[in-house]
Amino acid sequence: MTFSENSPSSKQERRLIVTGGAGFIGANFVHYWCAKYPNDRVIVLDALTYAGNRQTLALLDTHPNFRFVKGDICDRSLVDALIQEEAVDTIVHFAAESHVDRSILGPGAFVQTNVVGTFTLLEAFRQHWLAGDRPSHYRFHHVSTDEVYGSLGSDDPAFSETTPYAPNSPYSASKAGSDHLVRAYHHTYGMPTTMTNCSNNYGPYHFPEKLIPLMCINILLGKPLPVYGDGQNIRDWLYVKDHCSAIDAVLERGVIGETYNVGGNNEVKNIDLVHMLCELMNELAPKLPVRPAQELITFVKDRPGHDRRYAINSTKLQNELGWTPSVTVQEGLRQTVEWYLENEAWWRPLLSEEYQAYYSKVYA
Ligand code: NAD
Ligand code: DAU
Repeated sequence: MTFSENSPSSKQERRLIVTGGAGFIGANFVHYWCAKYPNDRVIVLDALTYAGNRQTLALLDTHPNFRFVKGDICDRSLVDALIQEEAVDTIVHFAAESHVDRSILGPGAFVQTNVVGTFTLLEAFRQHWLAGDRPSHYRFHHVSTDEVYGSLGSDDPAFSETTPYAPNSPYSASKAGSDHLVRAYHHTYGMPTTMTNCSNNYGPYHFPEKLIPLMCINILLGKPLPVYGDGQNIRDWLYVKDHCSAIDAVLERGVIGETYNVGGNNEVKNIDLVHMLCELMNELAPKLPVRPAQELITFVKDRPGHDRRYAINSTKLQNELGWTPSVTVQEGLRQTVEWYLENEAWWRPLLSEEYQAYYSKVYA
């Protein structure tokens, strides 16, 4: 796929650490950023957990301003050394344990990476910012989720930036903890932070445990399509490239200390989404083990504590920073299905023994 080719900013070159840049959204962001701002220095710091994939960034290895560092965001001495050695002025923080089902099986890693890891980065960046006498162009951008706001009823208004926090899973609770730390570092120390809380992303390089890639891959393999509960849960789908452009807008024009919600304006019931994916696969895949793919749909036991509905009001980002999502869910899903059809070499190796063991635990 191609990434944004808009003209580079006229601003002074930045020096970014992108944490979690080998994961789904982080990698899309790094490709986007390196294409749009080729003179910026981009250092990816990623522990390469099961969700991190070095291959996703392989095309950037010849890019003169790109560097990959394998390491843990909880490792303070590594983070300190990297920030100083690279004279970093911007951190874009994606690294996290991100999957709700895994947080139900084992919450400890979520608290460690999402809370302790975010704290470690904030502390390291604060020392660096103070040592430089608080440069005004420094930024710590924290990438968070709509899940911190809890679950909506069918008639509730969409989440806004002032919706009270009510996280329901160990994942969303750990993200809420990280958000509170970011807020406190701005409020207490004046740190130049910004934050985005966004809805469900989808697109290329999405790890197969999440709904959309899981369904695409299972259709191609002729495996059951496990729909939790009654399939009536609603998510607000955001194409990942639109999320990248939203973060770009916040880094360029966002107000320090502010939070911006990012959403695709695409509320869809899970069961309807699965039907849309089946239709696209029926149309686009030359060979399917089971056709029509809808025959594979299987209702399975619900996720414990499953949030019913998410919806994001992104009026603030649209009105104040001029951002709008560019891709409808119909276009985005078509592009995504085409991507999974064309990139079996990317996803096939991810169906590892570890993945099969995880899959058996969740879907047994
Ligand atoms: P992901 O699971 O695909 O990727 C996470 C990346 O972080 C991986 O590359 C992993 O190796 C890395 N990582 C994990 N622990 C680390 C550690 N201790 N040190 C360094 N690197 C570590 O996640 P994603 O879906 O790309 O999500 C990125 C961010 O966006 C997360 O903060 C997530 O909470 C947030 N978010 C995601 C979505 C979504 O729909 N995927 C929506 C809203 C917000
Ligand atoms: O809302 C933002 C969040 O979106 C992010 O913060 C998370 O990191 C990201 O993983 C995602 O969380 P969800 O739990 O909403 O995404 P997931 O893809 O796991 O599930 C989407 C919906 O589909 C949800 O209602 C559960 C359902 N589902 C999921 C899977 C994996 C199924 O019905 N069957 C499945 O097999």
